[in-house]
Amino acid sequence: DTFPVGCQVQGSVVFRDSTFHNNPDVKNSLYNTRHGMYHPNCGLENVLMSWGHDEYMYKVMKYNQFSLPQEAFYMIRFHSFYPWHTGGDYMHLCNEEDRRMLPWVKEFNKFDLYTKCEDLPDPQHLKPYYQSLIDKYCPGQICW
Ligand SMILES: [Fe+2]
Repeated sequence: DTFPVGCQVQGSVVFRDSTFHNNPDVKNSLYNTRHGMYHPNCGLENVLMSWGHDEYMYKVMKYNQFSLPQEAFYMIRFHSFYPWHTGGDYMHLCNEEDRRMLPWVKEFNKFDLYTKCEDLPDPQHLKPYYQSLIDKYCPGQICW
């Protein structure tokens, strides 16, 4: 899962709220409000999140100017933010765009974790289909 955080935890794995037990922000009354360090409806793009493959792939897509709709970029960027899209948390930080994108993120979630089958697919059989998608939406060499 991806969690909004109130500070940077360098070199650590963020897991549930136990990660922050020794963080002085936990005792700072300024941060221990409903909105914490954020303004109401500030938008998820302005919320500091733990770094993960969501943001990395989102940045790769942006940098390489994939010809996909904004919804695709958004789905990738927030697809691991389960507390939000599945748990219904953090709605008070969402702006209009976040609320508009939520159904798309939920749609993408149908193909995320725990949706894979046990049988390994045949890459050679699948390649023409996926190569055609690559050629259409992100052709050429990709900078990673
Ligand atoms: Fe993922």
